[in-house]
Amino acid sequence: MFTLEKKTALVTGAAGGIGAACAKMYAEHNIGGMVLTDVRKENLEKTAAYIESETGVKSVCIAADLRREDDDKALVREAAGKLGRLDILLNCAGVSRRGNLYDVTEDQWNFTFDINVKGLFFICRETFRVMENQGGGCIINLASQAARSGGIVVTPDYPSSKAAVLTLTKSLAKAGAAKQIRVNSVAPGLIATGMTTDFGYDPKTVPLGRIGTGEDVAGACLFLASDYASYITGACVDVNGGIAMI
Ligand SMILES: NC(=O)c1ccc[n+]([C@@H]2O[C@H](COP(=O)([O-])OP(=O)(O)OC[C@H]3O[C@@H](n4cnc5c(N)ncnc54)[C@H](O)[C@@H]3O)[C@@H](O)[C@H]2O)c1
Repeated sequence: MFTLEKKTALVTGAAGGIGAACAKMYAEHNIGGMVLTDVRKENLEKTAAYIESETGVKSVCIAADLRREDDDKALVREAAGKLGRLDILLNCAGVSRRGNLYDVTEDQWNFTFDINVKGLFFICRETFRVMENQGGGCIINLASQAARSGGIVVTPDYPSSKAAVLTLTKSLAKAGAAKQIRVNSVAPGLIATGMTTDFGYDPKTVPLGRIGTGEDVAGACLFLASDYASYITGACVDVNGGIAMI
């Protein structure tokens, strides 16, 4: 039986489909304390209320926009302060857009990278400071199958940003290993969430014959956060129903 008993977690993008499913699964597996964050305050609070009604676990909500280093630092410090320690950082916040290369403006390119890469890096770095002081921890970053395939229906800034997440995860895993900070990524394929409602995915294109769910991704994020994954770092777990086998 997986358990996250006595562990604490900070989950970004917790108002979204995958983040909410992960937070709920962490709660179902006895997480000791959890801070949920997202830029969409109302949806975040709804998610926390839903998790509490389903599992009895009460989370702390901190609404934040992750695009600026100062806000990222403040978020991690506040979360660690509220939780007492920070064992798990799960980075689910992210943005993508349907479109082609001509749809990408300079502002959109920067927006995507500010959230998917820069914000993620500064949250990880501040979390490193906390985890170093407490003797270790674990970080999980949401990458994407699109990082390897180049994407199907999204503009090219998105797969490029997720390729950066894959590489950043390895760099951080190397930096964290001697301090017992494990850093891994999860690369979902086609998952039904708010991000993909207009993507028109066809289940017949997936070898397992269906579009994935937030819970499918949450299972991998639970395993990586648990002590069963204590010898795994710098890895990427593919959760894609078999659309790519690498
Ligand atoms: N759904 C898929 O098919 C799929 C596939 C591969 C990878 N992913 C990745 O998984 C992660 C979760 O995606 P999802 O499907 O749950 O999408 P989602 O849109 O439901 O959730 C993403 C969340 O990130 C939040 N967010 C966006 N910008 C933010 C900012 N500046 N500051 C703070 N929060 C911000 C959003 O408010 C949203 O709640 C993302 O990183 C996404 O790229 C999703």
